[in-house]
Amino acid sequence: MQYTTLGRTGLKVSVAGLGCGGSSRLGLERVGKAHASGMVRAALDLGINLIDCARGYGTEEAVGEALVGIPRDSYVLTTKHLTIVDGHTLTPDEYVAGFNQSLRELRTDYVDVFFIHGLNLARWDHAINDILPALLREKEKGKFRFLAMSESPNQEPKHDATIRGLDEDLFDVIMLAFSLMNQNARELVFPKTVAQKVGTLLMFVVRDIFSHPEMLRDTIAKLAAEGKVPADLVGKDNPLDFLIHADGGAANILDAAYRYGRHEPGADVVLFGTGSVDHMKSNVASILAPALPEADRAKVRELFGHLVNVGLENWRNK
Ligand SMILES: NC(=O)c1ccc[n+]([C@@H]2O[C@H](COP(=O)([O-])OP(=O)(O)OC[C@H]3O[C@@H](n4cnc5c(N)ncnc54)[C@H](OP(=O)(O)O)[C@@H]3O)[C@@H](O)[C@H]2O)c1
Repeated sequence: MQYTTLGRTGLKVSVAGLGCGGSSRLGLERVGKAHASGMVRAALDLGINLIDCARGYGTEEAVGEALVGIPRDSYVLTTKHLTIVDGHTLTPDEYVAGFNQSLRELRTDYVDVFFIHGLNLARWDHAINDILPALLREKEKGKFRFLAMSESPNQEPKHDATIRGLDEDLFDVIMLAFSLMNQNARELVFPKTVAQKVGTLLMFVVRDIFSHPEMLRDTIAKLAAEGKVPADLVGKDNPLDFLIHADGGAANILDAAYRYGRHEPGADVVLFGTGSVDHMKSNVASILAPALPEADRAKVRELFGHLVNVGLENWRNK
């Protein structure tokens, strides 16, 4: 494993972070709770020390069980909570109660990083004016060490709330969307996180678009029809097959996607979600692999650098 410092938090974190959400949720629904706990143990065995949870993922109990007996200072635990759940705007008391329930399920007294989950400008005033003061009282009690936000990429593909959070210097860590076909954080976010030493966790590096070949083909065809990508990418099994070759090229599209995210300047941790130990092992191998060849990176930037709001939705046929 490779480790890095998560910005001004000073936390030493693995560059690959285990996402306990996404559509896989550690395989909790597909396989079961013992399997989900086993996924966490398998991650620790691979040297992953950053485990990303959320109240809404339903996996905190499984994570808590997996971590029994493991020294608390040997891993970095994060969780998050939405400010609006199923259309209900949480009161500060409800929000804090949810956070405390997370701590109980995770079987810990504190998390290292707490994220306001899926923050966007529409939720901003309530989150910052109403929820945050109550949350900071929990921080004073030692229940979390660093405050963070995760963005809401589908609603704000140009990172509006993230940018506001950085401009107001509210957060020590940001979780943001970045991928082969969603690169605008390079101009909009990373210059600020780097300057302010704010830690970054990347999500949506693979998601559905790079794990469902039909979604990639469908997306490319739609973008080509709109004149946003060259028409010669259409009609291929893998429209990004130019990335797959010998001499340092990618082994497959997921390998390309993880390596692309990992080596973006400003990226600290690449999150991945999976319900499969085999997938986990190959994802970690990709995240630890060298950068894609410079010519490939340049081509990805030339072809897709201008795209906004691509690959952020779920695949419709799932
Ligand atoms: N707003 C937020 O706060 C927010 C939003 C989204 C995500 N997140 C965080 O980021 C983490 C990652 O989520 P993500 O949105 O980036 O998507 P993701 O969960 O990483 O999606 C990856 C998808 O690809 C599949 N996959 C993974 N490795 C594979 C492999 N080697 N071969 C084939 N398929 C593979 C997974 O299914 P399999 O189970 O079959 O492997 C999954 O469907 C989440 O778990 C969560 O912690 C946070």
